Amino acid sequence: PAGTPHLRPALHYTARDTWLNDPNGLVFYRGTYHLFYQNNPHGDVWGNMSWGHATSTDLVHWIEQPVAIACDDAEDIFSGSIVVDHTNSSGFGNAENPPLVAIYTSAYKPETAHEGTQAQSLAYSNDAGMTWTKFTGNPVLTRRSANFRDPKVFSYPHPDGPYWVMVAVEAGDQTVVFYRSADLRLWELASEFGPANAAGGEWECPDLFPLPVDGDPDRTKWVLVVNVNPGAVAGGSGGQYFVGDFDGVTFTPDPSSLLDSPVFGTTGAGSGTGLEGLRECRWLDWGRDYYAAVSFSNVPNNRRLMIGWLNNWDYANSLPTFPWRSGMSLVREVALETVGGRPSLAQAPILPPLNQVQCLDGRELHGVLALPEILPGEAQVIDAEILPGTAEHCGFRLWEDADGGAAVIDYDPAVGVLSLDRTAVGDTTFHTTFASVDSAPVPLEDGVLTLRIVVDHCSVEVFAQGGKVVLTDLVFPRVGTHGSSVFVKGGKAILRKLAVATVG
Ligand code: FRU
Repeated sequence: PAGTPHLRPALHYTARDTWLNDPNGLVFYRGTYHLFYQNNPHGDVWGNMSWGHATSTDLVHWIEQPVAIACDDAEDIFSGSIVVDHTNSSGFGNAENPPLVAIYTSAYKPETAHEGTQAQSLAYSNDAGMTWTKFTGNPVLTRRSANFRDPKVFSYPHPDGPYWVMVAVEAGDQTVVFYRSADLRLWELASEFGPANAAGGEWECPDLFPLPVDGDPDRTKWVLVVNVNPGAVAGGSGGQYFVGDFDGVTFTPDPSSLLDSPVFGTTGAGSGTGLEGLRECRWLDWGRDYYAAVSFSNVPNNRRLMIGWLNNWDYANSLPTFPWRSGMSLVREVALETVGGRPSLAQAPILPPLNQVQCLDGRELHGVLALPEILPGEAQVIDAEILPGTAEHCGFRLWEDADGGAAVIDYDPAVGVLSLDRTAVGDTTFHTTFASVDSAPVPLEDGVLTLRIVVDHCSVEVFAQGGKVVLTDLVFPRVGTHGSSVFVKGGKAILRKLAVATVG
């Protein structure tokens, strides 16, 4: 196939010429952020699952490193996490040079001792994450299950002394399982959670972390992230979360975080029936391309940073890019803010310095205003504060083509819904489920809609109202479609602020 350099993102991580899926083992150590990920080192579709590796010092520019943990004849290396074992509880290093320990899922191959099961295994690094050795005592935790995977491990600060907690899934039972350990080797079941809320597909890649509510260190809540595939709000894969309490053994969701009963159905692109409950669940993202999102460990100052896979299993293996396939989302810093009386996640993308190319404020608009072109090699950040006023619709058109096509970000003030329509931009035909219009409820705040839109070469991420709602979608624009505009239809709106910046 021909290469597709015009679709190579400027800001989002992609492997040079291979396939990737879930972010794994996100960890900060000695000045470096490590992004490991599900990788096929030998191809551009899913297979040969190993942990690829990239490093960064600014969370924006990543350098691809050699494969960190490779599959072999006995096992594929599925998703998992990494901890810095500061006290050398595992015995894989020493206290002066604490080991990094990876806890990953061994997906055992046919005709091997553990054939047909998924179990949790360890690997360790004594050189700050650059090379890895598998533990000879693997697996360290099995349930003799075919779907026990995606361990996320963290140190729980119990008053009687810290211990390790593992959050993993029984994927086919829509259940999160919690284990505890003193040394990362011997694990004891602590509790289980689920099914709850969106339960139409397998539960995968869970995460659990504390955050202060509204920045108040005396009011901490725990966020349980559960990715679901299929059965997410926009169809296919997506991430939901629960807010509640965790006592080191049991996660107890706040009642305001739970539906009366789980939703077991799945949507196609568009909506099914009886699935209205899905819009009541709490979503990390309302678009179709933010999956398997998990957070970094060991980040200074209690910052909570997440990365998601910029894709959806509905069509993941068919994306029309070459020689790589699939990328990561931007890093998102998350916080808990009270919205309508309940703590909710707000997400902000980590961006490099902005190079502002256009800025207007306080301008009334009816009709269309052209924006600076989206240029090859650069990503764009659009910041807007819009008072919709009498407008029936307002929004943005990106990658406009000669046939009237564009990716359309639309706000409808009458119903308070923000949508992202990719049905008429570039290539949508590579998979029947790809074309979609995705939408989310977004109430105005004091009459204002605030948007931060990150436009990269094959993706749009829309952060609305300070990141309380996020919509992320892949797009595959045609070569040479650089034009974009802001529009107001059926009345007049005020652009209180409109700033466009390039970043690279
Ligand atoms: C999620 C997932 C995980 C699994 C990995 C395999 O996308 O299915 O549950 O560990 O991908 O690549």
